[in-house]
Amino acid sequence: MADGLRKGLTSYGDAGFSLFLRKAFIKAMGYSDDALNRPIVGITNTYSDYNPCHGNVPQIIEAVKRGVMLTGAMPMVFPTISIAESFAFPTSMYLRNLMAMDTEEMIRAQPMDAVVVIGGCDKTLPAQIMAAVSADLPTVVIPVGPMVVGHHKGEVLGACTDCRRLWGKYRAGEIDDVEIEAVNGRLAPSVGTCMVMGTASTMACITEALGLSLPMSATIPAPHAERFRSAEASGRVAAAMAVAKGPKPSELLTPASFRNAQVVLQAIGGSTNGLIHLTAIANRTRHRIDLEAFDNLGREVPVLIDLKPSGEHYMEHFHHAGGVPKLMAQLGDLIDLDAKTITGQTLRDVVAVAEEVPGQDAIRPRDNPIKAEGAMAVLHGNLAPRGAVIKQSAASPKLLQHTGRAVVFESVEDMTLRVDDPDLDVNADDVLVLRNAGPKGAPGMPEAGYLPIPKKLARGGVKDMVRISDARMSGTAFGTIVLHITPESAVGGPLALVKNGDMIRLDVAKRSIDLLVDAAELEKRRAALAPATMPDWAKRGYAHLFNETILQADEGCDFDFMRRQGKD
Ligand code: FES
Repeated sequence: MADGLRKGLTSYGDAGFSLFLRKAFIKAMGYSDDALNRPIVGITNTYSDYNPCHGNVPQIIEAVKRGVMLTGAMPMVFPTISIAESFAFPTSMYLRNLMAMDTEEMIRAQPMDAVVVIGGCDKTLPAQIMAAVSADLPTVVIPVGPMVVGHHKGEVLGACTDCRRLWGKYRAGEIDDVEIEAVNGRLAPSVGTCMVMGTASTMACITEALGLSLPMSATIPAPHAERFRSAEASGRVAAAMAVAKGPKPSELLTPASFRNAQVVLQAIGGSTNGLIHLTAIANRTRHRIDLEAFDNLGREVPVLIDLKPSGEHYMEHFHHAGGVPKLMAQLGDLIDLDAKTITGQTLRDVVAVAEEVPGQDAIRPRDNPIKAEGAMAVLHGNLAPRGAVIKQSAASPKLLQHTGRAVVFESVEDMTLRVDDPDLDVNADDVLVLRNAGPKGAPGMPEAGYLPIPKKLARGGVKDMVRISDARMSGTAFGTIVLHITPESAVGGPLALVKNGDMIRLDVAKRSIDLLVDAAELEKRRAALAPATMPDWAKRGYAHLFNETILQADEGCDFDFMRRQGKD
């Protein structure tokens, strides 16, 4: 196969002319023949004025270019879609697959021997890894890194666990308009991703565990000089991979590496979104994530990272305690240390040089975990025939076995309109139910699973209730919240059959979620459901593609035709 600039020539029916034309045009940028004859390392640019999490991307790119050139290769930067969590309508998840398609096709379409993808804000790393796996070119992933922490009235603050906690206090009348505005200016004090164990941090840690990024790259704070030195080193590694033509993602992603990623996901108190993304990534390889096996791992793997929302610290504390290498060292035989990384080293080599930090308490030893079991449990039952997920590490222990009366909201809009109605028939023992918030129903499976506690209950001191839905939840959120109920209600899942006043039983120890209504009654309700029709929003464009091909949460919410095997 041709290398460098000769790769993937534009089709004019004359290869010689195609190369001649390509060189003629690129020389307009001032490149010499010497530069153009080098191996090429493509570098994605996801800088955007709409994406503060990626605010350091220009500096990272400069550092990567330096590393590539110091190694004798040629860096070429190209733009792709950038998605910022709070600037994506209707949701960032709706756009993840579009970014994955854009990134994959740009990697394929343009000549490069290796690629560096730089991302971080929630859905960007998953999209970029899905793309890299499908393109299967040697790839180095660089997370942009977490923000540094904020401070307010002597308290350490972080986006966005504390956004939710303090907003909850504001709703309960515990803090006033002036204070909530002050807090607003202190929650995100630098560029970078949310500095708690949200989806961005989760995916960065998983990426490191998969061997796709350099050791410590998940945790170095975004503004730190070390972040840019790591980017320079990543550029060097990418240049070496361009020459060696490997390792490719298909060589690094094995059953062992996917198992390692799941162990790390459980041990960090990771985001439930991480499970969906890892499933989507695996489905682009010949391997699979099995929900039962993931749940079994959760019974074996303790939560060792003391980070919000499951614990107390923030990403910079995790970093200064030794980062993912130290975590993997503590996990010991739960990690397969023979798994390979982009540098050609194994995780055994990585763990061998993990820093020992005396007195640190962000990474716990196995005999003193934050939680004895892993972050997440997978539930089944007549409400979730294909599964549901609960982040038990961030739930109220007393609600993990609970039976309560259903209070049903038909959609996110309905919930928004009625949840604070003083006349809403709801009490603290009820189970709040949200439907039509799944991959297809909302669309884009919004992070609406963290239903707010109805104001009248919040003001009475209620901090948590059992909440269930086919939606997702931000990794930064907390509470006794059952998510990703599959199949979703919009495609006829049993969540569509729940009525106000039905009893729902959650039993996390038994891994069950059930609607206590007899089967004959449920059949009657199913027969009365209106037939599905195409919603207006899905009649054209990307929305149409999304509506027609989006898979359910247990399959990673990828498009059906983007999986490795293509459309069935
Ligand atoms: Fe970008 Fe949280 S908003 S990572």
